[in-house]
Amino acid sequence: MKFFDVLVVGELNVDIILDKIQGFPVVGKEIVSKEMTMTLGSSSAIFASNLSSLGNKVGFLGKIGKDDFARTVINTLKEKKVDTENIIQSEEYQTGLTIVMNYDMDRANVTFPGAMEHLRLHEITDSQLQKAKHLHLSSVFLQTGLLSEISELFKRAKNLGLTTSMDPQWDPTEEWNLDLEELLPYMDVFMPNTEEFKHLTKCADIQSGLEKVKSYANYIIIKDGENGAHLWDGKKLTTQPAFLNSNVIDCIGAGDSFDAGFISEYLKGGSMLHCLEFGNITGAINTTASGGTGAFKSLENVKKVAFDLFKYQL
Ligand SMILES: Nc1ncnc2c1ncn2[C@@H]1O[C@H](COP(=O)(O)OP(=O)(O)O)[C@@H](O)[C@H]1O
Ligand SMILES: [Mg+2]
Repeated sequence: MKFFDVLVVGELNVDIILDKIQGFPVVGKEIVSKEMTMTLGSSSAIFASNLSSLGNKVGFLGKIGKDDFARTVINTLKEKKVDTENIIQSEEYQTGLTIVMNYDMDRANVTFPGAMEHLRLHEITDSQLQKAKHLHLSSVFLQTGLLSEISELFKRAKNLGLTTSMDPQWDPTEEWNLDLEELLPYMDVFMPNTEEFKHLTKCADIQSGLEKVKSYANYIIIKDGENGAHLWDGKKLTTQPAFLNSNVIDCIGAGDSFDAGFISEYLKGGSMLHCLEFGNITGAINTTASGGTGAFKSLENVKKVAFDLFKYQL
């Protein structure tokens, strides 16, 4: 009997969002913002929260500090019924923080990664991995302490009998140093978006990227925004169109909500095509409310939006 359906290894940070700013910040001057929101940021947290809202038992393993922001992180995850017992609170490092400055349709972000850069492989134990049926990791390039050890983590998880998935997310250094040949044999489902996949494979298009990795990859899901998503099953590429939302509120977290929907059905043993369709519907639902978790407050709400807006019976 496993304790978790999914153990999520990922980055954690608080977002401080400043809205209605009088002008764009200028060095040497002071301006005023009329609205401020503090929320739990991070892709991994959006994934974990929405996976939990979809009815799965989710545990989180990541590194934060022992500060006020850490309390916000933990309390918000607990509200989403995500287990926080395996989150490491460091005495040495501070909790990560992103300051988001919204100005009209544009924004400027400044991120302080803090503790998330200091999670190391030896801090993730076999007994923690064994508590879960499935391991999902997100935002590998933000977790610089883990980056060079990532294949080892997935190798251990596979040896312990877990199924595995990963959403690499964007590399802020744009170096894209991830050894796919070493990693992908231990990855049941690899889940980048189109741009990330092209950078990671160093290819100009999806087809040539797949040619490059197909001898050692398992399933690959490539998320493609309004175009929906593609599934590589080892032999061929299948595309599922998106459930088009004509009234997008914002696309923050759409990829993470896609991942949550996909993995939720994958764990139930659904066919890969069904999982792909389900990912598309949870990705689309994400765009109907603000932020990454706004539309996932309850399973009832998710079902209602799926049916009312997209004629999809969850
Ligand atoms: N405008 C949209 N309407 C409907 N679904 C969308 C829209 N934008 C994104 N999605 C869904 O969300 C998924 C993830 O979005 P995408 O932008 O590709 O990922 P990421 O957020 O990782 O960049 C898409 O594959 C699609 O299913
Ligand atoms: Mg993404």
